[in-house]
Amino acid sequence: MAFERVGVVGLGTMGAGIAEVFARAGLRVIGVEADAEALARGRGHLERSTGKAVDKGKLAPGQRDEILGRITLTTSREDLRDVDLVVEAIPEILDYKISLFKDLDRICEPGTVLATNTSSLSVTAIAAATGRPGRVVGMHFFNPAPVMKLVEVVGTVVTEPGVVADVTALAGRLGKTAVAVGDRAGFVVNRLLLPYLNHAAALMELGVAGRDDIDAAMRLGVGLPMGPFALLDLIGLDTAYEVMGVLFDETRDRRHAPSPLLRELVTAGLLGRKSGRGFYGASGGAPHTKQAKSRLGTFKVVGYEDEGDGLAERLRAAGFKSSEEPDVVLRLADRPVIEHAVRLPDPARMVGVHLVGDQVAELASTALTSEHAATAARDLMKIVGLTPVPCKDRAGFVVDALLFPYLNDAVRMYDSGYASIEDIDAAMRLGCGYPAGPFEMLESFGLARVRDGLRALYTEYREPAFAPAPLLDQLVTADVSEFPRR
Ligand SMILES: NC(=O)c1ccc[n+]([C@@H]2O[C@H](COP(=O)([O-])OP(=O)(O)OC[C@H]3O[C@@H](n4cnc5c(N)ncnc54)[C@H](O)[C@@H]3O)[C@@H](O)[C@H]2O)c1
Repeated sequence: MAFERVGVVGLGTMGAGIAEVFARAGLRVIGVEADAEALARGRGHLERSTGKAVDKGKLAPGQRDEILGRITLTTSREDLRDVDLVVEAIPEILDYKISLFKDLDRICEPGTVLATNTSSLSVTAIAAATGRPGRVVGMHFFNPAPVMKLVEVVGTVVTEPGVVADVTALAGRLGKTAVAVGDRAGFVVNRLLLPYLNHAAALMELGVAGRDDIDAAMRLGVGLPMGPFALLDLIGLDTAYEVMGVLFDETRDRRHAPSPLLRELVTAGLLGRKSGRGFYGASGGAPHTKQAKSRLGTFKVVGYEDEGDGLAERLRAAGFKSSEEPDVVLRLADRPVIEHAVRLPDPARMVGVHLVGDQVAELASTALTSEHAATAARDLMKIVGLTPVPCKDRAGFVVDALLFPYLNDAVRMYDSGYASIEDIDAAMRLGCGYPAGPFEMLESFGLARVRDGLRALYTEYREPAFAPAPLLDQLVTADVSEFPRR
């Protein structure tokens, strides 16, 4: 089936971008909003987004006019009667979507394909509410839709096979890569991404590390395009909260229970970029710890010979003196740091150090670490060009605590038969802009390191989902360094 005229319902964070994607590919678009005010906002999104593309030289002004000229904006759903496809992008609330789809079913021709951009809701439940369940699919774009290359095409048990193939071909025409999946809450990307974002909020609530430090650790340490809090602001905290709720309802995994912090911010109207303030914003975000100034002092590095020697060398080259009576004892990560600290005459001087990549040093303070030692460690790292990430002495510190459960979830997803390794890797790269997919990351970190890190997390937090996935454990036991591509 060829799609030439499409409708997009809801022109918010996602819908406006989706309308732009269709118009850029030469399709005629009817964009529908709830009322005149929302329609004006939708028009504003479209004008700003295409305007930015012109400013960056990615679009000629004439092309921009052509794109905008292909989009008709309306507040009447009835205008969708002649379209070949409708993509719905209204809020993530099942009742709203079901009522809209019933109406679309009445308005549109029987052959029209109805697609939902839902991140997590049951496509099957939405399809079943219509008289054409075989022609209802998920067409899940990523934020920002004009930029991100992935579309998850979600078929249900009743979808006509040709419809998934047609929508997949359409995604290709839009310049996107489609990954076809079954109907499970969160599909591939959100099932892996949202628990990680929720976990970041939990670590902040537990006081393991602050907002800016967690974001810096994931961006600079792992190479992700954004830290979790900046990404939550981009997604919209209300959307993230709803998606977490749906995941939790399906899995009953308490890691999927939306963080109370998210609920509080949403209730306060702090929704992220769309409301001007969320975790970040004009008048500041969530509180983070005040940092005292230190007098730079002497140091001693202990543990992990090569890494430790390298760090000591960098510090000496920067003009600092190592000493047997130092201001700070830098213990290269070997947890729990407190076990090493209590063997010192003065445990208050010890700070754990975990170097992540070549830019980030996680600095773990124990319950006994003095403010002076913590501040001295931070300042020393800055002077040798590392970004310090102060955190508590907890398993995985920040980066491994956030990354390893995500990798473990990917292994479980693959092992459940839901998606292939290639599709999972491609989905995370193209849907989130990650530098590598989870299996590529696992293999580059070393399977044993991730398995051991998960064991440590499990031992400390007693969280069942942190226990290494059986497949990961077995590959490590068999001394295999790569996942079998089935
Ligand atoms: N935000 C993301 O990063 C993201 C990514 C992928 C998918 N999604 C999904 O896309 C959908 C929309 O999310 P969003 O973040 O764009 O939400 P949003 O709140 O930014 O936008 C929703 C828009 O729908 C409009 N709307 C509400 N009821 C309507 C109706 N009856 N008719 C027409 N328009 C109506 C609202 O006025 C608003 O402009 C959700 O299902 C969400 O899960 C979101």
